[in-house]
Amino acid sequence: MRRPGGHGPILLFGAGGQVGSTLLTGLADAFGSNLIVPDRARADFASPESVREIIRQTRPSLIVNAAAYTAVDAAESDRELAFLVNRETPTAIAEEASKYGAFFIHYSTDYVFDGQGSQPYKEGDPAAPVNVYGESKLAGEHGVAAASDRYIIFRTSWVYADQGRNFLNAMRGLAETKTELRIVSDQTGCPTWAGAIAEATLEAITLITGNAEEKRDFSGIYHLCATGHTTWAGFAKAIFERICLEPPRIIPISTEEYALPAPRPRYTVLDTTRAEECFAIRMPSWERQLDDCLSSSKIPTN
Ligand SMILES: NC(=O)c1ccc[n+]([C@@H]2O[C@H](COP(=O)([O-])OP(=O)(O)OC[C@H]3O[C@@H](n4cnc5c(N)ncnc54)[C@H](OP(=O)(O)O)[C@@H]3O)[C@@H](O)[C@H]2O)c1
Repeated sequence: MRRPGGHGPILLFGAGGQVGSTLLTGLADAFGSNLIVPDRARADFASPESVREIIRQTRPSLIVNAAAYTAVDAAESDRELAFLVNRETPTAIAEEASKYGAFFIHYSTDYVFDGQGSQPYKEGDPAAPVNVYGESKLAGEHGVAAASDRYIIFRTSWVYADQGRNFLNAMRGLAETKTELRIVSDQTGCPTWAGAIAEATLEAITLITGNAEEKRDFSGIYHLCATGHTTWAGFAKAIFERICLEPPRIIPISTEEYALPAPRPRYTVLDTTRAEECFAIRMPSWERQLDDCLSSSKIPTN
C-alpha cells in the first residue's frame, strides 16, 4: 500500500480499543515501520496540545483516529471530558492534519440521531442526539469537517469485538450463570464487528492511497455498519444460538424497564449505500459479522 500523498508516516490513535486494535494489525501489515502508534501516555486526548505536538513532530501523511470517549452512561456526568476527547482533540487533529496536508480518518456514531425515524438514516438526515455522548461526537464531526478538507468520518454503530467490554462479551459471561435474562427489545440498530470496520477502513485507505495522482475527493461522512438490523434482544438470541447448547431464556423488556443514566435513541439503523458505492465495498449482514467474529474468537464457546 502506498502512502496517501506526501511522504510522512501513518499515525494511528486509539490502538488499544476495539476498532483500533484490529486496525493496528492491518496497518502494521500494510505500512510496517512507517506506522506510528503513540500510546495514551504520549497522546492523551484529554490534552489536545499533547496530540498536536505528536503530529508536529511526526508530520504524518495519514492520521487514523480510533480513540474516543465511548462510555455512554458515564458521559452524562462527565460532559467536560467527553467533549475534550470527542470534540476538542479530533478538531485539533484535523487542524494539524490540514497544516501538513495529511488525510484524516475519524469515527463517529449512530447516536448522533434521535432515533425517531423508521427508515435507515442517510448521511444527510438531520442529527439530533439524545445523550451527551452523541452530542460530543456530533460536535466532533462538526469540528473535523470545519477544520479539514481531506477527511473521512465513518459513522458506525453497536460495535463489538472478540476482546473488550461489549455486548457480545457481556452475553458470553451471563450465559454461563443465568438461565433467564431480561433484555431490551425496543431499540433497533446494526450490531457491527470491529473486524468489519477495520477491513472496510483499510479498503478505503487503499483507494485513497492509489488516488494520490487522480485527486478524487473522498471527503465527507459515510455510514459504515453491518447491513440488516435487529434489537438487543434479537442480538442476544443470535449470540446464544451460536455459543450455547442450552441458551438462557430471553424475556423482552422495554427501554424504560432497564433504567440507565443516558437516554438511548430507539431506531438508529444506518443506510450504508454511500460508503459501499464510494469505496466499492460490501458490508456483510450483522448475522454474518457475528459468525465471522466468533470464528476468529480466542474465547471457547460453552
Ligand atoms: N463502541 C461502540 O458501540 C461504538 C458505537 C458507535 C460508534 N463508535 C465509535 O467508534 C470508534 C471506535 O470505538 P471503539 O468501540 O473501538 O472504542 P473503545 O473500544 O472504547 O476504545 C476507545 C479507545 O480510545 C482510547 N481513549 C479513550 N480516552 C482516551 C484519552 N483520554 N486519551 C487517549 N486515548 C483515549 C482508549 O484508550 P485505552 O485503551 O487506554 O482505554 C481506547 O484505545 C469511536 O469513535 C466510537 O465513538 C463506537
